[in-house]
Amino acid sequence: MSISINSRIKSIEISGIRQFSNQLIDFPEAINLTIGQPDFPTPEAVKLAAIEAIRNDQTSYTHNAGLLELRAEIASFFQDKYGLNYDHKTEVIVTNGASEGLDSLFRAILEEGDEVILPAPAYPGYQPIIELCGGKVIYLDTSDTGFQPDPQRLEGLITDRTKAVLMNFPSNPTGITMESEQLEKVAAVLEKHELFIVTDEIYSENSYGEKHSTFARFESLRNRTFLVHGLSKSHSMTGWRIGFVLGPEMYMKHVLKVHQYNAICAAVPSQFAALEAMKNQRYLPAEMNKEYLQRRDFVYGRLTGMGIDVILPNGAFYIFPSIEKFGISSFEFATRLLKEGGVAAVPGSAFTIYGEGFVRISYAYSMAVLEEGMDRLEKFIDTLN
Ligand SMILES: Cc1ncc(COP(=O)(O)O)c(C=O)c1O
Repeated sequence: MSISINSRIKSIEISGIRQFSNQLIDFPEAINLTIGQPDFPTPEAVKLAAIEAIRNDQTSYTHNAGLLELRAEIASFFQDKYGLNYDHKTEVIVTNGASEGLDSLFRAILEEGDEVILPAPAYPGYQPIIELCGGKVIYLDTSDTGFQPDPQRLEGLITDRTKAVLMNFPSNPTGITMESEQLEKVAAVLEKHELFIVTDEIYSENSYGEKHSTFARFESLRNRTFLVHGLSKSHSMTGWRIGFVLGPEMYMKHVLKVHQYNAICAAVPSQFAALEAMKNQRYLPAEMNKEYLQRRDFVYGRLTGMGIDVILPNGAFYIFPSIEKFGISSFEFATRLLKEGGVAAVPGSAFTIYGEGFVRISYAYSMAVLEEGMDRLEKFIDTLN
């Protein structure tokens, strides 16, 4: 028998974001607007909760699904904020970030050849996970519908091979949120078809317009909807690796088996930190949002002032302007912007072909960095015009 790497992993490339940000090393003076994580420190009380847990020797395995008190606080958080009802004993699993939650979930539900419909431009973390399970991603183009999933177009993609529809609003990379009415139209389509709904709402707490509307609220879909979430974005905790999956008991017991064998449990000091975040820091993201909102308005104002087409995003901390009018690919635009303009932004093509013609700018940076970045971008664009 010849030794060889699994063919599915061989065909998977490193993420377009990483491919691009790897180039940054050669441009140490560049203003970096590529990063998808909050620039605020983790809240002090959250850090102290982890330190105290370590001091008290709370460092051994927990229940596979996570500390019971933490799961109770997670269920209470979603009840309190969004009126959702989950039984913390059987319907909540604490994972090592939303990433592991998505992986455990898809491994539990997908079989070879199953299709998963995904609105695109999309976060590049989904496709590899789905393909490693033998699934196939079917993209729902939103690039010409204001980055909102069009219900008719969605329905047209559903076949008897469709196992799940995966939604991500507020969206990475577009920052677009789905308003209640639009959610209802999409839900009406999903009600007609036997399939799972996976809703990654990791940016729900970073919403700037109407209060976030969750896809998990439809009673008619409740017994086949999974809500994926976590603390990376809401509480500036990317490195702590805490995510959650919430869903119906009859399926969650199978997701738990995958999680049990690939992780045993989420890192325990991080679970204690998460307990503090969920119990006592529920409204902290609102404080950070004041800052994000100011930054978003600044960047949006500068981009429109430069004559760039851009939709005002109402969530996450990304803005996704069109660069189509410059007549070059998003990769070339981003590469030249880096080399000639001294600003790093992610080419839209890193978010599937439906992101071609756009670049993603993160505004999780200080105003001083954003000001310099926008000044440089403006100068660079002048050279293209
Ligand atoms: C849409 C989306 N989902 C999931 C993740 C991964 O989150 P975590 O840090 O919880 O694994 C990210 C990270 O950027 C993301 O943007």
